[in-house]
Amino acid sequence: MRVLVVGSGGREHALAWSVAASPLCDRLYCAPGNAGIAEEAQCVPIAAADTAAIVSFCRRERIDFVIVGPEAPLVAGLVDALAAEGVAAFGPTAAAARLESSKSFAKELCTRAGIPTAAYRRFRDAAAAKAFVAAHGAPIVVKADGLAAGKGVVVAAELESAYRAIDAALVERRFGAAGDEILIEDFLDGEEVSFFALADGKDALPLAAAQDFKRLGEGDRGPNTGGMGAISPAPGLGAALEGRIMDRVILPAISAMREMGRPFKGVLYAGLMLTADTPRLLEFNVRFGDPEAQVLLPRLLSDPLPALLAAHDGVLRRVDLRWKPEAALCVVMAAQGYPEAPLRGTEIRGLAAAGQDPQLKIFHAGTKRDGDRLLADGGRVLGVTALGADFAEASARAYAAIDKIDWPEGFCRRDIGPRGG
Ligand code: AMP
Ligand code: GLY
Repeated sequence: MRVLVVGSGGREHALAWSVAASPLCDRLYCAPGNAGIAEEAQCVPIAAADTAAIVSFCRRERIDFVIVGPEAPLVAGLVDALAAEGVAAFGPTAAAARLESSKSFAKELCTRAGIPTAAYRRFRDAAAAKAFVAAHGAPIVVKADGLAAGKGVVVAAELESAYRAIDAALVERRFGAAGDEILIEDFLDGEEVSFFALADGKDALPLAAAQDFKRLGEGDRGPNTGGMGAISPAPGLGAALEGRIMDRVILPAISAMREMGRPFKGVLYAGLMLTADTPRLLEFNVRFGDPEAQVLLPRLLSDPLPALLAAHDGVLRRVDLRWKPEAALCVVMAAQGYPEAPLRGTEIRGLAAAGQDPQLKIFHAGTKRDGDRLLADGGRVLGVTALGADFAEASARAYAAIDKIDWPEGFCRRDIGPRGG
């Protein structure tokens, strides 16, 4: 098979790395990729957003299967455009990707399918929203309806910060059209997990769960980021809870999407809060998580490619995936200044020596080559993933590798691992 991965981050490096190992894959391309992905695949300089160029590349190179990493091209209809030209692609159509691109659509689906989530109200008027918040009290959560690159959610501990979040979206219009409407919802308390399942339009197959470390600073302090690290399996999530998430969240969502004429194929990523009574949905995403993919895929013992194909072909029922018993842990190395203004172009040395351990893989998230030099080219730059008999072993392995990386302008959190040790 001739396969194309679309995207350029750590998630796409993990996808390319695991697909490159498949005996089914003869040729692997990535658009646009990065310096690490170039070691697994042939990178082609086409932006993930350039739908027309991706479609014509696939026709010209007779690509058999496209795997779309990020949400933006899915929401923009890349899978639809490829299907129209007879090119098979993994991922939802634009109609199904609405589960991620509109939080109110996701909430309506929860109501329709009986999926437990936080109680919420929708607002377009700032005064009405503030009156509701004042009557409700804090803590409370304010969310822009549309895609806001992870910046559209404010968990407000006091009323003042909720009012500011309302003004930011509805008055200052900081998120443009994505913030024309906001959701105000109840604060949920508990452990957060990211749960992943493959879906083929009618059936779903659980993958695994992970925990993501979204805050920039150690001890979960500081601003939200795309994710500074991840671990899998998710602590506290046994087979019983996993079954409950499939029965109460994933399968009802897949059935409801099908009934609504928007059959969902691809990865369904449920961001969940494990509240005292039941897991409740925080959000749906329509793709693998980043950096969650960097801990899920290294734990997969089975070849992922037949499973992704089966999701596309509607035959997931025939797939059985095997997982390694090991724990996986990924530490993200980011460039100084991330997330606000990451420093670009600094040189990274020592990766070859750091990456010797066979239980370790250094995924590239934002790098480029300049002759023989490897340069940082993004906010999140590397994701160092290690496997171990337990998280302590995986953590020791990951941080030992990080200590060998010579990159003074990079930083990471030193506390990635199960919370509370
Ligand atoms: P979302 O993009 O909706 O997943 O929200 C981003 C982050 O905000 C989540 O990962 C949670 O940490 C937090 N969050 C969102 N909704 C709630 C809620 N209702 N209660 C508590 N925290 C929340
Ligand atoms: N790590 C969070 C996400 O991929 O959305």
